[in-house]
Amino acid sequence: MRVIAVAGARPNFMKVAPILRALRTAGHASTLVHTGQHYDAQMSGRFFADLDLPEPDFNLEVGSASHTQQTAKVMERFETVVRDIRPDWVLVVGDVNSTMACALVTAQLRPALGCRLAHVEAGLRSHDWDMPEELNRAVTDRVSDLLLTPSRDAQPNLAREGLDGQAVFVGNVMIDTLLHQLPSARSVDMPGRLGIERDRYVLVTLHRPSNVDESGALRVILDALVQLARERTVVLPLHPRTLKNAIAFGLDAHLTPLRVVEPVGYREMLSLTDGAAAVLTDSGGLQEETTVLGVPCVTLRAQTERPATITEGTNRLAPWPLTVEGIMDAWRGAMAIGRRRVGERVPVGWDGQAAARIVAALEAATSTK
Ligand code: UD1
Repeated sequence: MRVIAVAGARPNFMKVAPILRALRTAGHASTLVHTGQHYDAQMSGRFFADLDLPEPDFNLEVGSASHTQQTAKVMERFETVVRDIRPDWVLVVGDVNSTMACALVTAQLRPALGCRLAHVEAGLRSHDWDMPEELNRAVTDRVSDLLLTPSRDAQPNLAREGLDGQAVFVGNVMIDTLLHQLPSARSVDMPGRLGIERDRYVLVTLHRPSNVDESGALRVILDALVQLARERTVVLPLHPRTLKNAIAFGLDAHLTPLRVVEPVGYREMLSLTDGAAAVLTDSGGLQEETTVLGVPCVTLRAQTERPATITEGTNRLAPWPLTVEGIMDAWRGAMAIGRRRVGERVPVGWDGQAAARIVAALEAATSTK
């Protein structure tokens, strides 16, 4: 098989790395396309080094722009690559703008070139259409030939949309990377490097537009973090979007009591997550990583497209709409339950073998073409 794998933004890199390895092991030809949606060393370059990712064969260098402009730029530049490579499969992962843009291009070229589209992490739904990721997920799934699902809850979502015929359950490929990298992440000892004690700090990440693009919403969360910082060290690797907005809204003084660090690489982040007493986040990936690591997690969103992290994992939603008291109560509740051992209870298929199952699913679909 000739496969183009697409990665565009930070949460894509850890999903693509094990798939590229598994494709190589099975003797298939792979082409890595980086759309350039994320481009800074902290958001992109360091992940390539940490994850032993090869240099991309193509970098589309689209950069930051409005959703529409970014999607359009990826589409225009990706078309050239697909026409050039003529792959059997284009494989897209996750739910970022690059995912949907490359999915649409593949679907448009399918009749002429015969290329097919596989979506890794298919079938997740938040049912919140204001989230750009929900649009990206639903559109990508609708035009895919093969829907590779990470958890059992994806199947009924796809069935409701009449798409379950294309679905194959493969498990969570991000956990392949987590389990592969955990020993070296631990040797990085990021808490030690920051001079903070393991199990004594709270790790926070924040970047969803609904939380950080509006001053009232960002103020509530930062007020809660300031309160939390009176009880525990609060470590906040700060996303560029959040930093930009905190300054624009005059909320930068709220950052002073927090231990703000620049966005960190994959191993450093895994080390910080593994060592945290609890995590507060609006990221999808961290909800899953804390579930496997057994670290209590409070998700600062109205809903999650990853319900298995609540029913089987260590995740809980903070009461919505967010208030300082609600966030503090959710944090105290999470702390009261405390940590589990790594891998003590995880959703089925979150076992480090998902990439091999993805390649097997591509091979099976190719042979039944
Ligand atoms: C994107 C994804 C989101 C994912 C997140 C992880 C979409 C719709 N959103 O959101 O699903 O969870 O990545 O980080 O695809 N910036 C830099 N350097 C970079 C990249 C971005 O400084 O390398 C700044 C720019 O000012 C940019 C802002 O961050 O405008 C937001 O970046 P963007 O890629 O538009 O969205 P994210 O919020 O990162």
